[in-house]
Amino acid sequence: MQKRLFLGSIALAVATLAAGGAVAQTNTFKVGLILPMTGPFASTGRQIEAAAKLYMAQNGDNVAGKKIELIIKDDTGTPDVTKRLAQEMIVNDKVNVLAGFGLTPLAFATAPLATQSKTPMVVMAAATSSITQASPYIVRTSFTLPQVTVGIADWAPKNGIKKVVSLVSDYGPGIDAERTFKDRFTFNGGTVVEAVRVPLRNPDFAPFLQKVRDAKPDAVFAFVPSGAGSALMKQFAERGLDKAGIKLIATGDVTDDDILNDMGEVAVGVVTSHHYSAAHKSALNQKFVDAFSKANKGLRPNFMAVGGYDGMRVIYEALKTTKGKGDGEALLGAMKGQVFESPRGPVFIDAQTRDIVQNVYIRKVEKVGGQLYNVEFETIKDVKDPGKTK
Ligand code: PHB
Repeated sequence: MQKRLFLGSIALAVATLAAGGAVAQTNTFKVGLILPMTGPFASTGRQIEAAAKLYMAQNGDNVAGKKIELIIKDDTGTPDVTKRLAQEMIVNDKVNVLAGFGLTPLAFATAPLATQSKTPMVVMAAATSSITQASPYIVRTSFTLPQVTVGIADWAPKNGIKKVVSLVSDYGPGIDAERTFKDRFTFNGGTVVEAVRVPLRNPDFAPFLQKVRDAKPDAVFAFVPSGAGSALMKQFAERGLDKAGIKLIATGDVTDDDILNDMGEVAVGVVTSHHYSAAHKSALNQKFVDAFSKANKGLRPNFMAVGGYDGMRVIYEALKTTKGKGDGEALLGAMKGQVFESPRGPVFIDAQTRDIVQNVYIRKVEKVGGQLYNVEFETIKDVKDPGKTK
């Protein structure tokens, strides 16, 4: 009963805020950053937090006369917690922007609150295509799975891979990857002989990989979320799939820069498509990687970090454009259509879809100076999320 009352009063407060359209006029501008800082997806939180702080260290905490305050909360990767934290941030802290969202279910849990309270919600990580359709207040600076999957589905059949088994985590982004890969690969003349889905949490890949081995495909196409790639790679080798001549192709989530260097020889030669590699050759990226590493005891930034860094950029620039006005509608308008150079390459925020348009790169894991990197060797320019046309 008590809990009911409490939630009811939060709902009322959210509605009141929305009706007044009023975020308190103060000299601070609050960004509520909700991330998985503990639990199986803690690396996502650690990467995004480090990147957001780096952006602030490089660009100051004073923008258009406002002092930027970053409020960071750990949702442990649990949707109910994300939602509760977002409510508290809207009602009690009166944040101007919500940001973060390390996994798809966490973004979906929060989307209705962003709509009710008219608070812009910057999705820095979650990558299921349909997320931006869950609220008109969502702007995304990460990527989508359909966006990065098309590239590898085009590359594979041109490189002798005709028969594939797909293996994905069984939730939004995995289903997006599975469907996009199958459609495109089949269109290109290839065949997906089996589509295997593994649980998101605590996956034991071994029985699934055994199934894959028995199907004798040319390659496995895989998607698992950031952080889970090491276990997949290890079991891929343990089950002898590489020895059996089965190739591994994937989205870059699998050969995530946060964990790639510890994967060992089995990762060498794996071809993936993705929007960011720490080895991306540009002056801006070199500067980003160096500064990130220096500020974080040698940590290498991954694609989550770049989503967080660019998300802060989008927020800062929107605040400048609106001349320090904190109101949600104006900020959202100023986030749409931003064009800039990211450490990943040139990007823009499509004003219609509120999704990021960016280059997708085909990369191969190689040893560079004794370290494993995703070395980009082909660029597909200005890729929009193809998921939106469905
Ligand atoms: C997601 O849950 O949307 C997600 C998480 C990690 C990834 C990709 C997608 O690497």
